[in-house]
Amino acid sequence: MAKGGARLGGAGRPGTAGSDDGPLVTVERDGDVAIVRLNRPTKHNALSTALEAALLEAITGPAVAASRAVVLAGNGRSFCAGADVTEIRELDAEGVLAYYRASGQVYEVLAGLAQPSVAALHGYCLGGGLELALAATLRVADDTARLGFPEVGLGILPSSGGTTRVVQACGPLRAREVLLLRRRYDAGQAAQLGLVTEVVPGGQALARATELANDLAALPAAAVEVVRQAVDVAAQAPSAASLLVERLAYAALTTTTAARSAQQAF
Ligand code: COA
Repeated sequence: MAKGGARLGGAGRPGTAGSDDGPLVTVERDGDVAIVRLNRPTKHNALSTALEAALLEAITGPAVAASRAVVLAGNGRSFCAGADVTEIRELDAEGVLAYYRASGQVYEVLAGLAQPSVAALHGYCLGGGLELALAATLRVADDTARLGFPEVGLGILPSSGGTTRVVQACGPLRAREVLLLRRRYDAGQAAQLGLVTEVVPGGQALARATELANDLAALPAAAVEVVRQAVDVAAQAPSAASLLVERLAYAALTTTTAARSAQQAF
């Protein structure tokens, strides 16, 4: 398949620089889980528009549609070193708006998938890489991971959901620190800030993320999807609206076969 397409089967593994041969994104299955990997290892998986387009194609493709949970990982030394700086420096205002109508949608498409997603972080997870990770449902970081937002030093800001989500994850006080000071946080610091869910030893992020994704895949899918949506609403809506959403969601979920059979089995 042409470079840029998604295919089944692995290509390269975390930890080595590897080569950029093969498709920019690969998709493989582990039971009910689709494992999606960025595959531009010699550039730390920097997000060119071609890589983002391949990722968009992969996460809207049949292997992900048929899955019950998604793992997002990076081949080579890093999860992802962010936007491809050689491309973004050419953008004007119209170019930015056009970008978000095309491959730049990928962050919100990932966040809005019916399936939950788990990002497996190792090496650098910077800028757009961290935005991608924050768009996933959960994040596992190994102790090689270094997370941060360099954007302000380039005269810009994280604009693919990163500024919004870092406030939701860390609160405004910490968000100012994370967005302004350009610190690179290790996995433990990132967990303390609320940026990652779980920390694991070096080399184990993908395995643990896949385990968590399999746990999520085994749960009633409608409940998992509705919980994710209710959490998003709770982060943004007045309490009265959020409480109403909870109750209506409960009422809707009680009618599902999965809820009935799980409660009968109890
Ligand atoms: N965009 C484009 N290319 C990138 C990149 C990015 N975000 N991040 C890394 N690369 C490229 C490098 O230019 C280099 O290419 P080359 O081999 O053709 O020279 C290659 O990836 C390897 O990177 P290198 O800098 O040699 O590796 P390193 O281990 O010394 O440092 C980083 C890795 C990620 C710390 C460093 O590359 C970096 O700071 N990248 C920019 C991160 C950034 O600002 N991201 C946010 C953009 S908004």
